[in-house]
Amino acid sequence: MALIETKDLTKIYELGWNKKVIGLNQVNLQIEEGEIFGILGPNGSGKTTCLKLLLGVLFPTSGEALIMGKGPLDVNMKKHVGFLPENPYYYDYLTGPELLKFYGRLFDLSPAEINNRTARLLEMVGLAGAKRLSLRHYSKGMLERIGLAASLINDPKILVLDEPTTGLDPIGCKETRDLLLQLNQQGKTILLSSHFLSEVERVCSRIAIFHRGNLIEQGTLKELIGQYQANTLEDLFVKSIEKFDQQHPA
Ligand SMILES: Nc1ncnc2c1ncn2[C@@H]1O[C@H](COP(=O)(O)OP(=O)(O)O)[C@@H](O)[C@H]1O
Ligand SMILES: [Mg+2]
Repeated sequence: MALIETKDLTKIYELGWNKKVIGLNQVNLQIEEGEIFGILGPNGSGKTTCLKLLLGVLFPTSGEALIMGKGPLDVNMKKHVGFLPENPYYYDYLTGPELLKFYGRLFDLSPAEINNRTARLLEMVGLAGAKRLSLRHYSKGMLERIGLAASLINDPKILVLDEPTTGLDPIGCKETRDLLLQLNQQGKTILLSSHFLSEVERVCSRIAIFHRGNLIEQGTLKELIGQYQANTLEDLFVKSIEKFDQQHPA
């Protein structure tokens, strides 16, 4: 059994009278333990919809989303999952440590555990020096990093990150990448979405390409590049999307 799996997962957004938008169309994903799996796709291709369906933030129109074989409402499964949303909203009068403590309490961790993890995570994301600063004074990059720390407070086995480096400068991107590789080496399975091809290329063991709500390709970069006789990931990306559009005119 795959650690994360979707079966014909479909989401149709109903926008009032007779107006429908396909968010996700019959997507079948399998992600194995230990992978860094990248969902790649243009804006509006269904990446966020897919992640939110897996986490139970949205409900599917049809099909199934399973993590560790469980549906998104299973509390036991949720303990093992960390999620960094695309545009997280935080109480911005809190400081970084206060935010992490708040999340720690949501997971029912003991005060000692919360203190330990808060200190360790702040160090890990490079925010140990900004303990007194409230989030409303954080830069975009700092917010992204405190979000990553918050998503790790429950020491999850599975980390789901929606566009984790959008808004980061090149150094911030590299630091995040290194961090993801380090977390993966510690045994965490990571599912991330991105429209940055180079990011995905550098960290992911396998990728899926989404387009117009469809999963159009899934495999290792090497396999897919071979299959499309592409020179680069960018070339593969363009070719796979063009092929899909030719076969499925809008
Ligand atoms: N809450 C919503 N209501 C209506 N349509 C939505 C909603 N969220 C997303 N969509 C539409 O679903 C499609 C997929 O969006 P999304 O999953 O956000 O893509 P991505 O994360 O790849 O940019 C887009 O056409 C988008 O406009
Ligand atoms: Mg998105």
